[in-house]
Amino acid sequence: MMSETNKTATGAVTSTRLFEGAEHADLYLKCRPDWPEEIIQKTLAFLQEKKSGPFELAVDVGCGSGQATRPLASHIKKVVGVDVSVEQIRAAQCVDNPPNVEFRTGSGEAIPVSDKSVDLVTCAQAVHWFDFDVFFREVDRVLKPGGCVAIYSYHIFKPWVDGDDKKNEQLYSIVTQHDTETCGPYNSPRILHLQNMLADVHIPYEETIRDNTLAIRQDTTMKSYIGYLESRSGYQSYLENNPDDKADPLKEVQERLMDTLGLDAPAEYSKINIRSPIAFLLGRKPDNN
Ligand SMILES: C[S@@+](CC[C@H](N)C(=O)[O-])C[C@H]1O[C@@H](n2cnc3c(N)ncnc32)[C@H](O)[C@@H]1O
Repeated sequence: MMSETNKTATGAVTSTRLFEGAEHADLYLKCRPDWPEEIIQKTLAFLQEKKSGPFELAVDVGCGSGQATRPLASHIKKVVGVDVSVEQIRAAQCVDNPPNVEFRTGSGEAIPVSDKSVDLVTCAQAVHWFDFDVFFREVDRVLKPGGCVAIYSYHIFKPWVDGDDKKNEQLYSIVTQHDTETCGPYNSPRILHLQNMLADVHIPYEETIRDNTLAIRQDTTMKSYIGYLESRSGYQSYLENNPDDKADPLKEVQERLMDTLGLDAPAEYSKINIRSPIAFLLGRKPDNN
């Protein structure tokens, strides 16, 4: 079975293997949704409440192929994306990046930047893989006094039709059934943190905000959505454990979703809207240490 976690030389628990395949990294780059601008705006507004810019350095930890790293580039002088997977870093470096963005291998438990050098640490869709205590110690080490940490995650995207509750229920049940029956035995228990909106993740600063009101919505195609389902760690683990299974569970999911949505164009031309609620946490390091 694909290992879910392994230990680094520093003893930090990581989950490299779930994200290390080159194909998986490419799929991730193509199919993972972008974060809404609102997240960046709210994060910057929080940072600016007690600190005035210009801001020198942001670090995006668990950056994957850079979905949450690049949007910081127009607001912060230098942005460093850090990921434990060499293949994710390679995929992040493959696209046209703004000149002030750099990607480095490293981990949430050993962030490769110096003490008190960072204005903002972000962590998008990755904190559930980290050893929380070690990560927050690292965040505290690298943040400047008054610097901030922003953590955001979604659980699972589902196709969505505005104003049609009945259809949304049917779409929800198709995706949930796939997640439970096909991926369920292979989903890491850490996915529960996403399912429960990071309720067990606590930023250890006095000044924190927990905002569960935001959602990501995205226009996409059925083909890209199925690619997103394929990129999820539980499905990748299912594939690794069932190499000879000729049934293609995602083909069936696609057919059922297309049927429910009344779509008959090829999947790459079938436009859909997907959405997921976001768990959003902010914290500020005290100004006096
Ligand atoms: C679901 S992806 C999130 C990618 C991206 N931030 C996004 O917004 O879509 C999770 C990423 O966390 C990385 N990761 C897992 N454990 C890690 C650790 N201990 N330290 C740093 N990165 C880690 C994985 O390699 C993967 O690229």
